[in-house]
Amino acid sequence: MKQLDSETREAPQPMTAAPLLPIPKVDIAVFCQSEEVREAVGTAAIDRRMARATVTVKAGGMKEATALYGGVTSPNLVVVESDDGEARLMATLETLAMECVTGTKVIVIGRSNDVGLYKKLLDAGVSDYLVKPLEPMDFVAAVHRCFRDSTEEKLGRIVAFVGAKGGTGSSTLAHNVAYAMSKRVDADVLLADLDLQSGTLGLNFDIEAKHGMVDVLQSPDRLDDVLLRRLAVSYTDRLHLLPATTDLDKFINLREGDVDHLVDVARSSSWHVVVDLPHILTQWTRKILLEADEIVVTATPDLAGMRNAKNLIDFLKKARPNDPPPRLVLNKVGTPKLQEIKPKDFVAAVGLEESVSLAFEPSLFGAAANNGRLVIESAPDSKAGKAIVSLAWRVGGTRERRTRQKGVKALLQKVFKRGKPKAPSTLRKKAGELKTSEAGASAVEFALV
Ligand SMILES: Nc1ncnc2c1ncn2[C@@H]1O[C@H](COP(=O)(O)OP(=O)(O)OP(=O)(O)O)[C@@H](O)[C@H]1O
Ligand SMILES: [Mg+2]
Repeated sequence: MKQLDSETREAPQPMTAAPLLPIPKVDIAVFCQSEEVREAVGTAAIDRRMARATVTVKAGGMKEATALYGGVTSPNLVVVESDDGEARLMATLETLAMECVTGTKVIVIGRSNDVGLYKKLLDAGVSDYLVKPLEPMDFVAAVHRCFRDSTEEKLGRIVAFVGAKGGTGSSTLAHNVAYAMSKRVDADVLLADLDLQSGTLGLNFDIEAKHGMVDVLQSPDRLDDVLLRRLAVSYTDRLHLLPATTDLDKFINLREGDVDHLVDVARSSSWHVVVDLPHILTQWTRKILLEADEIVVTATPDLAGMRNAKNLIDFLKKARPNDPPPRLVLNKVGTPKLQEIKPKDFVAAVGLEESVSLAFEPSLFGAAANNGRLVIESAPDSKAGKAIVSLAWRVGGTRERRTRQKGVKALLQKVFKRGKPKAPSTLRKKAGELKTSEAGASAVEFALV
């Protein structure tokens, strides 16, 4: 999006600077006049953070929106494209406001790059004003700002680890990185083993747990953050573990809504959530992978590893077009008697620009695995230990980023004040729906009307 002309402090921040978190289950109607805006909104609507929102794109502008909401209840957010000049825009907004229920938020997309107009619109109760050309992620960011207060305060980041094939060391890295993260931030880290049949979390940390992921997943609808923390084993003050508690009799197959709920609960229970995924993905573990904020793909530098890593990375890039690509770890580099692909060639072949390499060190990793003591605990100053700490820094995000995001809350979270109260029972229902959505039910729909 273009920046507004003025250098005054009121000018909006660059829209994509803050980390974006999932948007709750809200209804959004977008009135488009140009193909360009219709396309940008279309791309934004398939962004993973919008997966729970229902976006309906309609042809028209202020007039059509006003006419529609004269007859039906306005949704949580109405977005209107308008190329009108200031006087006309303010007048038409006023008539639209008369038809919208209290609580409906409004975003205007316009052509005028004028900070004076921007301020007037905010004063009138408009939540945001976006200047064309519209970038999809600017749209997602604006929607996110509108509903930030509706989401759970303590929203954690999910970091998912997945191996390109079996035995790459993905779990070992997930466990070590989670430990390193818990040491470096003044916040909780929850580590969950989702390799339900052969997870190694319990072995690597040398813990015996009565409960674990199987109990968590068995009745996902009953799960909340209090129960989740009760089921987790506290390894330190900051690190909480959910081992797999292997049970070959139990087969877990979650529905989409359950996964949404699980992810919400995990996010609200800890600031950082590290998930150790099995390398063979099922439908629901794949959904968790797609919902993650950071993905680490671990591969060994051989041909099969390269092919699988490329397939996985291509898939993730396509499914998450607005996210940075996953991070690649090349592990066990220098394994004797193995025909290896050079890390540089491997990284180029899978279409990434960088990777983290860890050497094959059987005595270091073997001793750690056998003693139930992580490499990062037993040899923090080893080369591998340092690489793990550096990876933890990269995937961990920072508290500062989140605090800054909260700081601008007051300015950007305005409601469309001039709306007249209408149909209170519908409003109560809407408030209820918003709560339900945070508990998990999912609705993804992109309708061109
Ligand atoms: N850099 C390394 N050098 C030597 N051994 C390693 C290295 N990294 C991991 N290992 C060892 O490789 C084995 C497999 O590791 P791990 O279980 O973490 O892999 P995985 O990718 O999670 O496997 P799975 O597909 O079974 O989930 C373990 O014994 C571990 O100690
Ligand atoms: Mg594993």
